Amino acid sequence: MQRPSCILLGIESSCDETAAAIIKDGKLLANVVAGQEVHRQWGGVVPELASRAHQQNIVPVIASALKQAVIGPEDLTAVSFTRGPGLMGALLVGTSFAKALALSRNIPLIEVNHMQAHILAHFIDDGSGRDKPAFPFLCLTVSGGHTQLVKVSDPYTFEILGETQDDAAGEAFDKAAKILGLPYPGGPLIDKHAVNGNPDAFRFPEAQVPGLGFSFSGLKTAFLYFIRDKTAENPKFIEENLNDICASIQQAIVKSLVKRLDQAVRETGLTQVAVAGGVSANSGLRKALEEKAKEKGWTLFVPPFAFCTDNAAMIAMAGYFKYQRGEFCGQDVTPLARYEV
Ligand code: KG4
Ligand code: ZN
Repeated sequence: MQRPSCILLGIESSCDETAAAIIKDGKLLANVVAGQEVHRQWGGVVPELASRAHQQNIVPVIASALKQAVIGPEDLTAVSFTRGPGLMGALLVGTSFAKALALSRNIPLIEVNHMQAHILAHFIDDGSGRDKPAFPFLCLTVSGGHTQLVKVSDPYTFEILGETQDDAAGEAFDKAAKILGLPYPGGPLIDKHAVNGNPDAFRFPEAQVPGLGFSFSGLKTAFLYFIRDKTAENPKFIEENLNDICASIQQAIVKSLVKRLDQAVRETGLTQVAVAGGVSANSGLRKALEEKAKEKGWTLFVPPFAFCTDNAAMIAMAGYFKYQRGEFCGQDVTPLARYEV
């Protein structure tokens, strides 16, 4: 007997992207993301403004995902949502919407950990036929709030082998960009300028962290003092050297990420290696990983750009894995600002 199909809606609202996606039996039918311009002028995400923008965006974003998938709300079999980690007010919007939808349609509700979803984004079937990592594999998860090395044994079992002691890699990119006077989020802008710069133009110190940990706050402080001293000597220093500065700070961040990943491969013996999260969109990191993979014989998995930064396709995918095991949650579920992998 053929199994009835599962049409699952995923909702993401953990930070400053309101997103909805629909997956039918594991295949992606729709993927809609609405960014929030409102934070730009403040140089970072303002939590209260994020919550309000999510409230404004959530209905049109979900309506547009349903339209893209050519289905109506009555066709949905289940709904998954980001429970955390993230901004409490922002998470509340997606969580409340998902709960109300599940209740009104009488369909299962599935809570998803955002960081696990970044990793499971590798399994989204977008019709491209790209290869998927084989379990167990090692994943470097690099986002705006997290930097982790994770051993993934199956779609439900994640073990953190190492993580940052202070700032996340995305935060390091964004803070460096802010010091340079670039608007938020600065990571993609550093990447853009770095393409035309010399990564060896300026040198920055490397953090000494035990085990498989990371640290980026020392680099940020060193960068702040470097820019302060150089602009004191020459007020046009940033303007005249922007590409080289961006290429150099990017190289410093990328080097420390690749070094730890290489160490984790050696310690675990896992050679199926994946990268996930917003910073995996960085061209310098992608290139450095490809070179390292070639040199060391790793099988490397890098997500398509649309699935690196925050999206709901990954929330729907993680939800689909849980759906297959009947891992549903009740109406008493609440968001978690902190939610360990
Ligand atoms: O995963 P994500 O979209 O959101 C979180 O879960 O945090 O990651 C956002 C982070 C931001 O810090 C952003 O600057 C960074 O990813 N990012 C990049 C690039 N694209 C996004 N950093 C460097 N280069 C990029 N191309
Ligand atoms: Zn994210």
